[in-house]
Amino acid sequence: MKDVRLKLKRKKTLAEGVLEFEFSSAEKLPQMHCGQFLHIKVGGEFLLRRPFCLYKYDDYSVTLIVAVVGGGTRRMAEMKEGDEVLAVLPIGNGFTLGAEHKKILLLGGGVGCAPLVSVPLTYPDKEYVSYIGFSTERAVMFKDEFAKFGSVTVCTDDGSAGRKGYVTDVLRQDIEKIKPDVILTCGNTPMLKAAARLSADTKIPAYMSGETRMGCGVGACLVCACAVKEKDGSIVHKRACVDGPVFRLEDVLL
Ligand SMILES: Cc1cc2nc3c(=O)[nH]c(=O)nc-3n(C[C@H](O)[C@H](O)[C@H](O)COP(=O)(O)OP(=O)(O)OC[C@H]3O[C@@H](n4cnc5c(N)ncnc54)[C@H](O)[C@@H]3O)c2cc1C
Ligand code: FES
Repeated sequence: MKDVRLKLKRKKTLAEGVLEFEFSSAEKLPQMHCGQFLHIKVGGEFLLRRPFCLYKYDDYSVTLIVAVVGGGTRRMAEMKEGDEVLAVLPIGNGFTLGAEHKKILLLGGGVGCAPLVSVPLTYPDKEYVSYIGFSTERAVMFKDEFAKFGSVTVCTDDGSAGRKGYVTDVLRQDIEKIKPDVILTCGNTPMLKAAARLSADTKIPAYMSGETRMGCGVGACLVCACAVKEKDGSIVHKRACVDGPVFRLEDVLL
């Protein structure tokens, strides 16, 4: 985890209210792992840093996907090329795959697809099948990114693009054919709950990255506490920032 100064190199709109930011760093960035995030100081009246998943990265750059939802992200949307921000990165555990995980199912909803795009950066030698869901055609993003490393099925709630229906319902129809070793997922809470039911019904292990609200980002304030089931069935509170943000889906009380 390191404090870095990032310069905005490129900004582009992916869908209404969703922007892609590519930042460069003059100094070499620390090693990053898929599913980790950074904590960015947006400036102005916003004292608390804002967390964003690492979407793409290399030694001297990091790219983020930002949905504009409030004051902090609005301020980011106003940034111009050449503007600088301070950030701490990388934070959190990220997704961990073992040798037993050969075929990986990536299940993303909306902006939650972003951290899944980085999984093949860390694990290039796996087989990937992706299912990504959006509300409607105008909101569809990332299709070409997922297509770079495997098959991708796009779903929309209203059927205006790809297959019609919630992405978890569409996946449920296909999962017996795909037979993945593990599911990695990120999206809103209703989608994660449906993914948890699918994982329980099919006995396919699943890991999720959630979007808990955060304060300090370093394990001190407990704003990000989430209830997690231990092996003995007891419930403990874990800090999503330093113990997560990735947890075994069946362990998290959503
Ligand atoms: C580990 C982690 C990774 C994240 N990665 C991304 C990412 O890659 N791209 C992205 O667009 N967003 C991501 N988020 C969410 C993002 O951090 C928030 O949307 C952002 O901090 C909101 O800041 P704001 O000042 O614009 O909004 P605020 O004024 O703080 O909040 C505006 C609205 O957004 C809601 N909100 C705020 N924080 C969150 C949150 N964490 N989850 C859900 N709703 C929230 C609030 O309830 C409120 O309704 C991530 C969050 C976490 C914890
Ligand atoms: S954000 Fe402060 S403990 Fe996690």
